[in-house]
Amino acid sequence: MNNASLQLDAHGRLRHFLCIKGLNHQLLTEILDTAESFAGVTEQTVKKVPLLRGKTIVNLFFEASTRTRTTFELAAKRLSADVLNINITQSSAVKGETLLDTLRNLEAMHVDMFVVRHADSGAAHFIARNVAPHVSVINAGDGRHAHPTQAMLDMFTIRRVKGPDFGRLRVAIVGDILHSRVARSQIHALNLLNTGDIRIVAPKTLVPAHAGSLGVHVYHDLDAGIEGADVIIMLRLQRERMQGALLPSEHEYYELFGVTEEKLAAACPDVTIMHPGPINRGVEMDSDVADGPRSVILEQVTHGIAVRMAVMSMAMHHRKELKE
Ligand code: NCD
Repeated sequence: MNNASLQLDAHGRLRHFLCIKGLNHQLLTEILDTAESFAGVTEQTVKKVPLLRGKTIVNLFFEASTRTRTTFELAAKRLSADVLNINITQSSAVKGETLLDTLRNLEAMHVDMFVVRHADSGAAHFIARNVAPHVSVINAGDGRHAHPTQAMLDMFTIRRVKGPDFGRLRVAIVGDILHSRVARSQIHALNLLNTGDIRIVAPKTLVPAHAGSLGVHVYHDLDAGIEGADVIIMLRLQRERMQGALLPSEHEYYELFGVTEEKLAAACPDVTIMHPGPINRGVEMDSDVADGPRSVILEQVTHGIAVRMAVMSMAMHHRKELKE
């Protein structure tokens, strides 16, 4: 089953949200528009809508996370769903239970949706292939493969700051592209939204071999890579995923690729600075840049709630179709 047929129902509506690849411009725009309608909800004093009342959502996290897990939890609560957080690293996996057994047990408790984070690429797809027909699966990050809700909250943030025309934008993604599920999902999303110029900027050792086929321009020099950029997305050096000596030292990385106020002179004067977090201050960028007026790093976190509300409510729609 390809990505599109696994994620979309017969009417082209979202059933699972596993990766951006296989989706289309119209669906991404629908996610962004739906998120826009929820952004208002999260700003009200009474922050709830009853859309998913009576539904049970399980956050199934096999890998540590703070930002992503909490924003998924808040999103589910603001949709009035019941939420359960299960941290598998401390639970059944330690006792040797297989992933399928864990799933079957949770399904027996009449769960409606799984939000899955796992260190292995393909884990969310595997779960989606094995759940009962009424259950939806949302990928909250699988290995180096995909992190689609992060990419969509980044697109939402760009659209809010720069407007809806991605065609006129130069977007530079700077940092550890090789190990980044976020970069992969962002590149697919930026391409589907017809972004004018997508660049990846990194040392040769941190660029994936197939980068040329991703529809991006590859730069190994920071000044050239961010020249005229409207948006710069910085990514964390993923030390825990690096094997062997891909980098001489963090200090040398900072010297060559760390973004400082001074180096930003090459970008557009109104450049927007983004980072999915967690930030390594003094490695990817200076605190002056991270906390400066052009940074939208905390807005990204806030937007994560509305975007996750959008994806969860859209994926739950297909259940209505099953009953009709
Ligand atoms: C990212 C992740 O976990 O993939 N963070 C996040 O979701 N906020 C990026 C990272 O870990 O560097």
